[in-house]
Order: sequence, then C-alpha cells, then structure tokens
Amino acid sequence: MNKGLILIVDDEQRLVRSMQIVLESDDYSIAKAYTGQDGLNKAQELEPDLILLDLRLPDLSGIDVLKQLRLRHIVTPVIMLSAHGDIKVAVEAVKNGAFDFISKPFDINELKLLIQRCLERQRLDSEVSYYRNRALSSSLIGQSEGMVRLQDQIARVAGSSAKTILLQGPSGTGKTAIAREIHNQSNFAEGPFIEVNCASLPEQLLEAELFGAEKGAYTGADKKRSGLVELASDGTLFLDEIGEVSLAIQAKLLTFLESHSYRPVGGGREHKANVRVVAATNLDLATAVQSGNFRSDLYYRLNVMPIDVPTLQQRRQDIPMLLEHFALTMAAKEGSAPVLLGIEVAAMLQDYGWSGNIRELKNLMERLTILYPGEEIELDMLPPEMQSLVVVSTKTETLQSLPATIEDQLASKEKRIIQQALEDAGGRKGLAAEELGISRHAFKRRLQKLGID
Ligand SMILES: Nc1ncnc2c1ncn2[C@@H]1O[C@H](COP(=O)(O)OP(=O)(O)OP(=O)(O)O)[C@@H](O)[C@H]1O
Ligand SMILES: [Mg+2]
Repeated sequence: MNKGLILIVDDEQRLVRSMQIVLESDDYSIAKAYTGQDGLNKAQELEPDLILLDLRLPDLSGIDVLKQLRLRHIVTPVIMLSAHGDIKVAVEAVKNGAFDFISKPFDINELKLLIQRCLERQRLDSEVSYYRNRALSSSLIGQSEGMVRLQDQIARVAGSSAKTILLQGPSGTGKTAIAREIHNQSNFAEGPFIEVNCASLPEQLLEAELFGAEKGAYTGADKKRSGLVELASDGTLFLDEIGEVSLAIQAKLLTFLESHSYRPVGGGREHKANVRVVAATNLDLATAVQSGNFRSDLYYRLNVMPIDVPTLQQRRQDIPMLLEHFALTMAAKEGSAPVLLGIEVAAMLQDYGWSGNIRELKNLMERLTILYPGEEIELDMLPPEMQSLVVVSTKTETLQSLPATIEDQLASKEKRIIQQALEDAGGRKGLAAEELGISRHAFKRRLQKLGID
C-alpha cells in the first residue's frame, strides 16, 4: 500500500538519492527538487503529502521556501533538514510553521519515524479540524505572543461579569473587531451589538442618541424617541472614540456606568439598563486626564478592565498570516483568484512600518487584489511610497526624518548601497544581490533604474 507522496527539496543529490531508495522501499512515493524554486513549483503541481526541505538551498533559504508555500496557500506539512549548527534557524522554521526539523547527518530510521509521526498528526488534524474550526470561531487572525495574550484577555473578560471594558490602542489595530469578538463570546451574545461613534455627533445629539429624549426635549424632537442604551438592552453597547466625548457627557456616562440607570433628555423617569459597555479609544486617556480633557473618575471607572491592543509592529509575526488571510478574503469578495506575494515583497512587507496597522494592510491587499487578481506581486507593483523603502529598509538606515526631496535622497542612498554591494562582491551581481537579500532579477532591475553600469 502506498503511504503517500514525499517531496524532497535538497541540493545534495547524493543524499536525496539515498533517502529516495530507503523511503521508496518503505512504500512512499518520492518526488525531488534540487532548488527552492523547483521545490515550490513541484509542491504546487504535485500536491505531495509531505515535504522534506533543506534549510540551505542554492537559490532560496529553506525559510523563504516555507513562507512562500504558505503565501501560495499550500498547507502541506514540512520537515526541515538542517545542517549541524543551524539549529537556531531550524527553530525559526518551526516557528514559521514547519512541523519539525532533523539535523544532518541523521539516522534514517529517525527520519522515518518523524515522517510517520508527521503524517499521522496530519490525518488527525484533518479529522478534528471541523470541530476545531468551530471552537476557534474567533474572527481575529494571529498567533503571535501578543495576539495569544489578547485572545486570552478577550475570553476572560467576555465570560466575566464586568459591565465595563476599555480597549486602548492606535487606529486600525482592531478595536472594533475585538469589541465584536467580546460580544460574540459573552453571555450577551444573543442580544444586540450596538455601535456608537462618539466623535461623530455634537454634544446634545449624542446625549439624545444614547439616552433617548422626551417629546419636545429639544428643537426638532417632535416625538418621544428611545436611545441606543435602550436598544442595546441585554446586549453590548460599543462606545467608540470615547476619548472625544465632551466633559458634560462624560459626567452623564459616569452616572450611567455607576448606577446602570439613566434619564432621557428632557426629564422623564429613571430607566434601568442591562447592557455591557465596551469603550474604545486611540488616545492615551491617562494623558487626557492629566491635561484636564478627560474626567479622572470616568477614567478609573473605565479602567477597571482595560485591554491594551498591540500595534502590528508589536506583532510582526502575524503579518504573513494576515497577508494570506486578506489575500483569500479579498479574492473571495472580488470573485477573483488570490494574489501571490513574491519573496522580496513578503519580506519587505514584514519589515514595513504599518503605521495604519491592520487596516492599512487590509487596504493594501484589497488594492492589489483589484489591480492584479491572481498575479504574483512584485516590488514594482506596490504603492510607490512602499517601494522606496525597500532596499534601504533592509539595511540599517532609518527614514523617519528625511526632508522634502525624499525620492531623490532615497535614490542616491539606494545607488550608494548598491554600488557598495557590487564593490564588496568584486563586481559579481549574483553575489551582491544575495548580500542585499534580493533576487538577481530585482537587482538587475534596480541597476537599470538607477543607471548603474
Ligand atoms: N486580528 C485580526 N484579524 C483579522 N482582521 C482584523 C484583525 N484585527 C482587525 N482586523 C480588521 O482590520 C480592520 C481594522 O480593524 P478595526 O476597524 O477593528 O480597527 P480599530 O482599532 O477599531 O480602528 P479605529 O481606531 O480607526 O476605529 C477591520 O476590517 C477589521 O475587521
Ligand atoms: Mg474602530
């Protein structure tokens, strides 16, 4: 009985041949590739059950191949073959999703055992994945330390009796998404999730919007109207941008949060409210308190259950997964094929600053999906402001404070770096490209662009 197809990607042909002989006699089928690129192509074409992947290949590093596999939506399990002394890199590979690694020279029986374990695990995984997908219903993507901690906090506060939760983090980090997630995992999940952007309404309207108004309470209030607090009954009220609320409304919110009751605008009787409030802000409320723009008592009330949402920079490890996620979801939305990210592009995007956080990343993938459906994205397809960061960002320069003629400065810096690399490599372009961590192709294109001979 055939036990499955194994793709071996390794440039040591003799080693590959001996593995082939042993594994074939053990009823596996074998496919071989001697370069990373060929490995990627065969992984895509042949859909093997398992990949044995060397860490050092002539064209690409094993880690790059691994990342590329994931970016091409190939989820075949991978066992890394590492040379003695490469343990650190091998561990990094496992962090990047490899099943395990084995150090060369290895005992072939040990390898066989590892293969068996890997395939067995794969089988179990696909059996339980249906249940696991249901359990892991969280819509939030990411497995970095920061994200795991966040998911843990979400689960804790969602299930707690806390009536007030505060989300703090810069724009685009996912506060709204987290608020929804807290709602979905909570006892209030059957109730409504009502979202209010506190910054978008003038003071009086916001008060009426939240707490409702009696007829005639203000000009234009021609009938009694209920507020969002009432609408959110037995559910979650999400107060976005709470840092923007005026001091007068802050006082009313404090009363509401402390007594769980409120009065509509224009008097009327006191109403009880059973809602959980999740508030969010991208301001630093502690500072706002110091400068007198935010009531300290409201701050302390909100701060009982605070969650600090990490920026994308603080959880860079999640970037490949997020890129993959948005490549797929945007393609589904557009009804097109997902874009593929080339190695340089993927590396560059992982280093990029992402000051707009997940929203910026999502917008980029949307743009690429619309412009280049199904295509492999190269550096020159990225928005110009990103492209100009590429070479420099892989070296040690920082770009924060460059003055106006940024394009020119970048070009001349890029030129210097490239000329230096060429010089160091004794004029050998391949070597210089490798030193800079870019492909030969991209290197040549740069030479042309910058007019270097
Ligand atoms: N962990 C995540 N996994 C997948 N998608 C995410 C994640 N976090 C955020 N998103 C998506 O990224 C986008 C931006 O997130 P969101 O609107 O929640 O950010 P925000 O912090 O509320 O920003 P703002 O402060 O500007 O309101 C949304 O489309 C959201 O669905
Ligand atoms: Mg938001």
